[in-house]
Amino acid sequence: MPHNPTGPHNPTRPHNQTGLHVGIDFGTTNSSIARAISPSEVEVVRFPTATGLTEAYRSLLYLEQVQEGATRTVKGWSGPEGIERYLGAETRGRLIQSLKSFLTSESLKSTEVFGRRRTLEDLIARILRDLREKAEHHFGGKIHSATVGRPVHFVGAEREDHNALAERRLAEAFRLAGFENVRFEMEPVAAAHYYESTLDRDELILIGDFGGGTSDFSLVHVGPSILRRGRTPHDLIGNAGVGLAGDAFDSKIVRHLVSPALGAGSQMRSMDKILPVPTWVYSKLEHWHHLSFLKAKDTMNMLTSVRGHAFEPERIEALIHLIEEDLGYQLHRAVQRLKIELSDQYVARFRFTDGDVDLDTDVRRIDFETWITDELGQIERCIDGLLETSGVAAAQVDRVFLTGGTSFVPAVRDIFEVRFGREKIRAGNEFTSVARGLALKAATPRQP
Ligand SMILES: Nc1ncnc2c1ncn2[C@@H]1O[C@H](COP(=O)(O)OP(=O)(O)OP(=O)(O)O)[C@@H](O)[C@H]1O
Ligand SMILES: [Mg+2]
Repeated sequence: MPHNPTGPHNPTRPHNQTGLHVGIDFGTTNSSIARAISPSEVEVVRFPTATGLTEAYRSLLYLEQVQEGATRTVKGWSGPEGIERYLGAETRGRLIQSLKSFLTSESLKSTEVFGRRRTLEDLIARILRDLREKAEHHFGGKIHSATVGRPVHFVGAEREDHNALAERRLAEAFRLAGFENVRFEMEPVAAAHYYESTLDRDELILIGDFGGGTSDFSLVHVGPSILRRGRTPHDLIGNAGVGLAGDAFDSKIVRHLVSPALGAGSQMRSMDKILPVPTWVYSKLEHWHHLSFLKAKDTMNMLTSVRGHAFEPERIEALIHLIEEDLGYQLHRAVQRLKIELSDQYVARFRFTDGDVDLDTDVRRIDFETWITDELGQIERCIDGLLETSGVAAAQVDRVFLTGGTSFVPAVRDIFEVRFGREKIRAGNEFTSVARGLALKAATPRQP
């Protein structure tokens, strides 16, 4: 472990013998770590990447089989190092993304990686261990305890016990990664703690945290007088969440732009019948976190057989190429680039070219918004439901604080502007507000 007792970023800071208590936001797409340096100030860890420092550590894991003498071992890299290793590899290993979205899945407890079963907890722990070691290096001290974020509603949770299961599995991953004490806090409540630290008057705020996997909301009283008297459970009016966000938007881009070019909706001949090509493969293609699981032997055999019977075999060939070459990351990058450009522009160009796959087309923001109508509707119903069950009218909400990467999507912001008025909307620290709030919470142990 690259433990550095002085710490490279602050050589004068003493080594804390009792261990540090940090805030960790393990996000579906990005993770960040922070610690409080005063009741209102936090320091966020910055991670080196090929293009400079970042506070948002990609929550991905790249695994590769490495020959060491006579033995083959499996090595893993997470975050920016994982991306670089993956892009530079001649024979690609396994790139796994959006692991947090599997936490409620009873059926996906483990996956086979180079002939060995690895549990989900173990894979997540691999990322968390790297994060811990990098943060220890940055802060110059051992980290023993963490206040950790969790969504109100995990991806795939249909009942409350699914959320409880997901939280238990996440706690186990933290334990495996060497954290001795872990406390959970709802992610939007953590964002509220951060927002509160910027205030000079009390407010009733609605937090909207839109990430990669989940959209979470909290209605909470915050402000200096609440901080002074100490927070009580009555200050939190309510939480709500829906298990979809940026990844779900990406899925719709894949469905409408990518899958048709890879054979979705085309036909094949089977015996004397004409059948559609199997649709389940395309629903996996829509989810980054499922794509690398298509690379199983029986699925590849099935696709080779489909190619032999397809009316448009070149499209199935392109699909096989994408799966075999593990191009999920490149596809993800192209889709995200389009989505991010559409947050600023009314028209953006989608480009994805590799081997047999060649896509190049203009996309209008209005088309993207049509593709995500269902998701936007679910988000709206969730917010309206929270206000209704809390007995709070939109006019009573003083401010709305929007955070998380997906809060940049104009159609998402519109939902709030329509209900609360543009003047009430605040935003900021989209990728670190949750970790900042968790760090502040970590420093105030007596708050409920
Ligand atoms: N400018 C932008 N416009 C639209 N979407 C964006 C923009 N920037 C980032 N995103 C999206 O934001 C998401 C990541 O946001 P964030 O880092 O807040 O999520 P996370 O914390 O990892 O996820 P979660 O909170 O759901 O666990 C991704 O889906 C990414 O594509
Ligand atoms: Mg988040």
